[in-house]
Amino acid sequence: MEVTYYGHACFAVKVGKTNLLFDPFITPNELAKHIKVNELACNYVFISHGHEDHLADAENILKRTNSTIVSNYEIATWFAAKGIKKYHPMNFGGQWNFDFGSIKYVKAEHSSVLPDGTYGGNPGGFIVKTKTGNFYYAGDTALHYDMKLIGEYEKIDFAVLPIGDNFTMGIDDAIRASDFINCNKIIGVHYDTFPYIKINKAEAIKKFADAGKELILLNIGDHVKM
Ligand code: NI
Ligand code: MN
Repeated sequence: MEVTYYGHACFAVKVGKTNLLFDPFITPNELAKHIKVNELACNYVFISHGHEDHLADAENILKRTNSTIVSNYEIATWFAAKGIKKYHPMNFGGQWNFDFGSIKYVKAEHSSVLPDGTYGGNPGGFIVKTKTGNFYYAGDTALHYDMKLIGEYEKIDFAVLPIGDNFTMGIDDAIRASDFINCNKIIGVHYDTFPYIKINKAEAIKKFADAGKELILLNIGDHVKM
């Protein structure tokens, strides 16, 4: 699997020939001005919850690439009402087999309202299981004890966790989350985009290393094989 970071909580994972894109927020992100949104290859767009900083570019990308949106019922049908033909609604605890692998939509402790004020359903995360490996994207979330179940369901090869604090887990809770899910390879997201979530990157990496874990902080536009 190849992971590319597009800033904030947006990243893509290439599984075989399939491009999975998570929480696209690129155009409004000052730190991601060099990313060419109109050239991103995409087959599926996953939306963790309804906040603007997770879906700003979703409609355009979905329409340009004719991708399928996968999200909770409320968000998936909100996009369907905007003319998105290919949408897959889910809810907590549900799993579905797609052509690239399976998705389980799991709980996040956060909030979720869509940009126009529409109820955004429950905020969630995704456990992605493929032939080449498994990963967990937590979405925006606090640390919560149910994360222990995730480590029991599947072997997680890497996890994408928010680390910016204030709106989500910070670094110390993300380290504890990685214990809960039994995964020591973490890609950090949801930091530095806004003043409230600025972090000291060197200190974050050191804290993870001191706990025997690897924190990967990618430059925006960079990719890494996982
Ligand atoms: Ni949020
Ligand atoms: Mn957010």
